Amino acid sequence: MRNVVKWIGIAVGSLVVVLLVAVAGLMISSDLRFSRTYAITVEDMPIPTDAASLDVGRRWAEIHCQGCHGPDLGGGPLFEDEALGVVDAPNLTTGRGGIGTRYQDADWIRALRHGVRLDGTSVFIMPSSEFYYLNDADLGSLIAYLKTVPAVDRETRTRTFTPLAKVLYAIGAFENLLYAETIAHDVRPAAPPADVTVEYGEYLAHAHGCASCHGVTFEGHQPAEPGAPFAPNLTPGGELGTWSEADFNAALRSGTTPSGRILNAAMPWQGLGHLTDAELAAIWRYLQSLPAATVETE
Ligand code: HEC
Ligand code: HEC
Repeated sequence: MRNVVKWIGIAVGSLVVVLLVAVAGLMISSDLRFSRTYAITVEDMPIPTDAASLDVGRRWAEIHCQGCHGPDLGGGPLFEDEALGVVDAPNLTTGRGGIGTRYQDADWIRALRHGVRLDGTSVFIMPSSEFYYLNDADLGSLIAYLKTVPAVDRETRTRTFTPLAKVLYAIGAFENLLYAETIAHDVRPAAPPADVTVEYGEYLAHAHGCASCHGVTFEGHQPAEPGAPFAPNLTPGGELGTWSEADFNAALRSGTTPSGRILNAAMPWQGLGHLTDAELAAIWRYLQSLPAATVETE
């Protein structure tokens, strides 16, 4: 009997040790990924100063940066959970606590196009995988505009993660949010001229992030985060196959589907509704040109 107890003790003890080693291993694997540095050769591109370009840049910032970095781009709390940790969106301006004073043009390009920060590590949560698609003219205009934003004095916190968050991250409980890991740094995507064409629609559908939610093939995609709604199939094989172009415009402008349903806020139509008629027309043409996928939605 005493032997049995002893062996059970040894077995349980070994299990605990194996578990602790596994947890430590997962934490180390997360730490290594967060601290990995990337040597990036930054592309040369003109940063314009004319009013028309600044306007183009302002629109990109309004649609894509203010949601996380705030209406004044001064940053602030973005994610906070006792069990997981803290992530602030940094202050992008030239005010106290802002990165604007330290950032040179090449630093903006490296962060936005490659997802790599001043210290060479990957951004986290910040969707550079979308901004990667911006062509030189659009990215140059965005950077030009960012440099003109009024200074905001606001200190933000550096990100922190609990051991639980690191373990969950390592086992893939979240989608990969370390975007420098996912970007093809040596390849530039196509940069077609701005026109109502399938090609330009493809450019916009990537640069405006439709693909990152609806899936790279636009067949629909379920985010890993618990409770996040399914982003439906946008190919003609999905519900859009029965929509008219006017229905599509209405959905993006007012968030209302042909059946009168209001789209969930997880579909950022309020920002995307600022796209021009010509831009929406190009995206529509592109979506209609895709092979009809008949993936079950929801
Ligand atoms: C989904 C939220 C989100 C969006 C959208 C977003 N950012 Fe960020 N951004 C962040 C977070 C969070 C960080 C801090 C990342 C970190 O700690 O690794 C960040 C970091 C940055 C950095 C790097 C700062 C550094 O530490 O060197 C720059 C530059 C930046 N953002 C600019 C922008 C611009 C410009 C846009 C719009 C085109 C934008 N961001 C859109 C969340 C976002
Ligand atoms: C941040 C994630 C996200 C982005 C970015 C995004 N969508 Fe969506 N979209 C969703 C989700 C989630 C839904 C489902 C909302 C619902 O069912 O209430 C949706 C729904 C839609 C619908 C309605 C489809 C249907 O069958 O009811 C259309 C159309 C659409 N999105 C088009 C686009 C286009 C075009 C873009 C890019 C310009 C885009 N979305 C970008 C998440 C996103």
